[in-house]
Amino acid sequence: MPANKKLLVLPGDGIGPEVMGEVRRIIDWMAHRRAVSFDIEEGLVGGAAIDATGSPCPDATLDAARRVDAVLFGSVGGPKWDSLPFEQRPELGILRLRKELGLFANLRPAIVMEALADASALRAELVKGLDIMIVRESTGGIYFGEPRGIHMDAQGKRVGIDTEVYSEDEIARVARVAFDLARGRRNKVTSVEKANVMQSGRLWRAVVGEVHKAEYADVELENMYADNCAMQLASRPKQFDVILGSNLFGDVLSDLAAALTGSLGMLPSATLGAVQPSGKRHALYEPIHGSAPDIAGKGVANPCAQMLSLAMLLRISFGMEEDAKLIETAIERVLNSGFRTADIMQPGRARVGTSVMGEAIVRELEKLAA
Ligand code: IPM
Ligand code: MG
Repeated sequence: MPANKKLLVLPGDGIGPEVMGEVRRIIDWMAHRRAVSFDIEEGLVGGAAIDATGSPCPDATLDAARRVDAVLFGSVGGPKWDSLPFEQRPELGILRLRKELGLFANLRPAIVMEALADASALRAELVKGLDIMIVRESTGGIYFGEPRGIHMDAQGKRVGIDTEVYSEDEIARVARVAFDLARGRRNKVTSVEKANVMQSGRLWRAVVGEVHKAEYADVELENMYADNCAMQLASRPKQFDVILGSNLFGDVLSDLAAALTGSLGMLPSATLGAVQPSGKRHALYEPIHGSAPDIAGKGVANPCAQMLSLAMLLRISFGMEEDAKLIETAIERVLNSGFRTADIMQPGRARVGTSVMGEAIVRELEKLAA
């Protein structure tokens, strides 16, 4: 018997633990009905980790993340920790994991499910069938560049500094991820930067062009300024297939793309490292929504994004396409049947809480697998 796959579960803060609880239902169901089990460890991250250990990403969590085959992450942050010094904030939990595990490619799909086409901020015909993949660089750029900080100038006035810095290798490796993905989709990459004002943007455009010419000439490449991309996303989103951008532009544009789908509560993401010589590839999966402290603990959060993050994990890290598809189909069917959590509530549908949604999805899985 091959060894069980190892999974690290990090529920984190806010609605993280609630929605992760529903994912556990699916994992239990898989053990019973699909005869697949995982070795699951649970760890601390974010505010929960600060409370227990003083650090938003304790070494024990980092060590466990290095050991396992994949990490399933919930969300971090909340008002309770807002007044902590900058260096101790819960958000550093996810940033440290990305950096230390070398998770440089953040894949953020923005997909509009049939049942939710009229929940978008845009007219339904503009977003029906929308399927965009944003590839965001996630270990470099202004998130980590030096120098950074707030210091005093000669006049005793404060100056805030962040540095956008990208090496050509950092750009090339994330560009390859985007081109590879495009080949399995509609074969188009839109690379975004501000080459008109930023030096790092000039290099970005040049390097993406070189990688394209040398290795991916079969893929369509379009270069677009990031501000124009925001405008195009909000007016004609279906022109895009894969959007490639820096850490900061990817962060902003992925929130915009997510809003087009009608609910942040529906979107998963994957953050991948390089394939190592052993064949192992570090990977972390998390919903795009944050910890949503305003609704935490009320039993009303939408568990779908966390469940779809598990589906993405099964597909990408474990090659379990069939199981991933089962989860996605079950969710789609429950939505089609009219169940809605508050975030995606529409007139004439049945408003349900987190656990009723979770139970319904497992019941649907049961039917699909029968
Ligand atoms: C995201 C979030 C994070 C980021 C925060 C929580 C640090 O906004 O994953 O998009 O800015 O990367
Ligand atoms: Mg963000």
